Amino acid sequence: MSHSNPPSPRRFTSAGPLTGRIAVPGDKSVSHRSLMLGALAVGETRVTGLLEGEDVLATATAMRAMGATITRDDDGTWSIHGVGVGSLLQPEQALDMGNSGTSTRLLMGLVASHPIRAVFTGDASLSKRPMERVIEPLSQMGANFEASPGGTLPLMLRGISPAVPLTYRLPVASAQVKSAILLAGLNTAGITTVIEPVPTRDHSERMLRGFGAKLEVGEENGERVIALHGEADLQPQAIAVPGDPSSAAFFAVAALLVPGSDLLIENVGLNPTRAALFDVLRDMGGRIDELDRREVGGEPVADLRVRHSPLTGVEVDPAVAPAMIDEFPILFVAAALAQGKTTTRDLEELRVKESDRLAAMAAALTLAGARVEEYGDGLVIEGTGGDPLPGTADATAIATHLDHRIAMSMAVAGLASRNGVEVDDVSPIATSFPTFERLLAEAGA
Ligand code: S3P
Repeated sequence: MSHSNPPSPRRFTSAGPLTGRIAVPGDKSVSHRSLMLGALAVGETRVTGLLEGEDVLATATAMRAMGATITRDDDGTWSIHGVGVGSLLQPEQALDMGNSGTSTRLLMGLVASHPIRAVFTGDASLSKRPMERVIEPLSQMGANFEASPGGTLPLMLRGISPAVPLTYRLPVASAQVKSAILLAGLNTAGITTVIEPVPTRDHSERMLRGFGAKLEVGEENGERVIALHGEADLQPQAIAVPGDPSSAAFFAVAALLVPGSDLLIENVGLNPTRAALFDVLRDMGGRIDELDRREVGGEPVADLRVRHSPLTGVEVDPAVAPAMIDEFPILFVAAALAQGKTTTRDLEELRVKESDRLAAMAAALTLAGARVEEYGDGLVIEGTGGDPLPGTADATAIATHLDHRIAMSMAVAGLASRNGVEVDDVSPIATSFPTFERLLAEAGA
């Protein structure tokens, strides 16, 4: 899980159009939450379409260590027998979160309001990421932390019960911080309130309601106010996880960039708090059609038909950033082949993801021959106007820094290049999209 294995380099080269139909794996955010809430409901929760990537498996292992019974049937359905809110057990060993920030921050919330102690560890990437953003509100609720210098992993958390209900205004637009507080609120008497100046993905709110928690969402002075009634009694559910829009994004951009492509991506989650990339790509001239809009697992879903299109550079409105926060690396690849300039700003958060995604993508695209300027809060990219990127020289590989999305974005850049792009390590792709390379081959790339 911690990628201590030797790196797996790979060269991605152009090999013709992407065609046919593919189905991307289940949504990572929804998968984490279905395991966590299933583990807190008494009775059996059944989950189909769960993402079987390393990050989600880290959550499953942690929930087992805290008392849930989690198994996978031969047909791929996952079964979770939960322990009930308030009844998580103290894990006997450190919880290895691998590369997964979502597992870490959300589970810190769950542990914070239980009378148990847990140690959280992670890989080299996760161990650099800021945890202070959750430590601070969870400390206000009464939990106690001993973190590594700079508020990072490894850290030890002593939860408390009863915890103190909190009203907290998010200082950063982060669904992970919001969710950590709401999950801590589940086992806290009274009402826990999170105020969001900028809306972030709302999977936690949708799923908490689906499991029977009492949760109100309102608006005050243009800000979202989410109030959760504590001491919730969660009811087990049957959940169908929609396909992950963040995974579909790589195939959508690949199909837009590679001449002759006409690809159908089935069952893509299009929750408006997640799907802004597709709107930005359409603004750039991308032909992306939504077919058969429907609802799956309480989330809007459609099949996406994506056809090769000439793209034009855009100025990306910072207000849409939270609804496409994981999609900037692949947007930068689309921008590198568009006609004219693409400008992005107010993206400081990208510097504290699995890697510093502004620095990593600026370096990687420059190495592949794109024209990129890096600023403190964004990139400005002058596209080729549709000409393929030169690609990387034979002896140079782009550095992925243990970041799955850098690896997949640069793989797509390789498909749209003359000489191919060498990626130093494709193993991190397994954290979120283990079937990425197989699906690329299936689509003909
Ligand atoms: C996630 C929230 C986002 C996102 C991450 C998944 C979630 O992080 O980048 O991949 O499932 O809540 P932030 O909340 O830190 O922006």
